[in-house]
Amino acid sequence: MGGLTHRVEKRGFDILTNGTAGFFMTVNIIVGTQWGDEGKGKITDLLSVDMDMVVRYQGGNNAGHTVVIGDNTFKLHLIPSGVFYKNVLCVIGNGVVIDLAVLLAELETLKKKGISPDNLRISSQAHIIFKYHRDLDTAQEEKKEAGRIGTTSRGIGPCYVDKYNRRGIRIGDLYNEKVLRSKLAWNLEEKEFMLNKFYGMKVSYDLEKLVAECLGFGRDIKKYVVEESTSVIHKAIKEKKSILMEGAQGTMLDVDHGTFPYVTSSNPISGGACTGAGIPPNAVDKIIGVVKAYVTRVGGGPFPTEIEGKMQDELREKGGEYGATTGRPRRCGWFDGVVMKHASKINGLTDLAVTKIDVLSGLDKIKICTAYEYNGKKIYDFPTDIHRLAKCTPVYEEVPGWSEDITKVSTYEELPINCKKYLEKMAELAECKVSMVSVGPKRKQIIKL
Ligand code: GDP
Ligand code: IMO
Ligand code: MG
Repeated sequence: MGGLTHRVEKRGFDILTNGTAGFFMTVNIIVGTQWGDEGKGKITDLLSVDMDMVVRYQGGNNAGHTVVIGDNTFKLHLIPSGVFYKNVLCVIGNGVVIDLAVLLAELETLKKKGISPDNLRISSQAHIIFKYHRDLDTAQEEKKEAGRIGTTSRGIGPCYVDKYNRRGIRIGDLYNEKVLRSKLAWNLEEKEFMLNKFYGMKVSYDLEKLVAECLGFGRDIKKYVVEESTSVIHKAIKEKKSILMEGAQGTMLDVDHGTFPYVTSSNPISGGACTGAGIPPNAVDKIIGVVKAYVTRVGGGPFPTEIEGKMQDELREKGGEYGATTGRPRRCGWFDGVVMKHASKINGLTDLAVTKIDVLSGLDKIKICTAYEYNGKKIYDFPTDIHRLAKCTPVYEEVPGWSEDITKVSTYEELPINCKKYLEKMAELAECKVSMVSVGPKRKQIIKL
């Protein structure tokens, strides 16, 4: 009962001090609702203006989050997309896996463009990606005759394997040479064996060189590293600061709730923010699902609403659908209401941020998948077993499109009627309200509802 009373009071406080949009004074989570690249970077950057803290909670440099500021386009892989605001503390949480060379390069790029990363904090509990993880990632993919996942080859999966196998090396280990050397020696022996004997490669890692490199990296990032990142976050929660958790990847790439095994090796869903940043579920208020007005996926695996032929290529070109990390062409499909419903349910979405609806302008007719047909029956719950999913065919509703250019529209009222109807359909299938509509990559191209 005490807990409930506290909760109500806290909400009361939020409502009284919040203004209308409501993404304030509380913990908000941004999640991708599809297979990644929904525009999380843009939405995180936009909401960061009202934030005190932005936290990445999972994934690594498999992520590519684009933020467009004026004529500059930034592609962030590890650093939270709140970094462009001087007063926002950016935290790389315990759940992230870090390739130190990539992190340092990203810091350099930002500095060169005049953006100070002084407000960055890195969890000492975050795990480190090594060259042997990248080598394993590539070797595993190459050995597969069929069913390649199409990973980003950044070593993400093998690094998380080591974490869960309790042999991973964490940021904090960079500051204890003895521990670092012994952990590395243990790992190098195992990885060389695996790569050479099982995967038929010819690798040999130099322990002392690697130790020296790691100690150097450790010195370079020392000023950003915090021993207890959870304490930093909890202090902010206690002080009723505005906190944004920035998810990477998307719900359908979640290792538990996505299209396993064609997924990434972490939990991008909202629940992942609790483990990946060390926050309790009852600290969370808003969960904002970022959803592209159509669907894309990079890499292999099932994609029920994938568009056939020329139409897919046209949508890819119009939407600029090429990976922000690997540059690979993204597969494109129609909006999938079954995926949307799944994401809404698994994440507990409170709000939708719809992106790239401008890309659909000019289409005569637009298809929306409202259900799947499975064994002659309509189903509405996403089958996470890919063999069952393979027997599903999308059930489409065809709706009329709109021809107007909407990239300069700034209010909901100004949108063409068919565009509004399309958004309403998305909200209906998601069983969630739309709070933001993005009509272009730039900061100004946003409609707040
Ligand atoms: P993320 O990984 O979810 O952050 O998304 P990406 O950055 O990988 O991909 C989204 C792409 O779409 C980027 O190139 C963005 O600049 C762009 N983008 C974001 N929102 C919009 C929008 O509303 N309209 C258009 N045309 N492009 C957008
Ligand atoms: P953001 O944060 C889109 C995909 C890869 C591959 C699968 C597994 O920019 O939305 P991994 O390297 O993680 O082991 O690859 O996951 N993938 C992404 N697809 N956006 C991403 O991140 C992705 N991160 C991983 O293409 O299919
Ligand atoms: Mg991306």
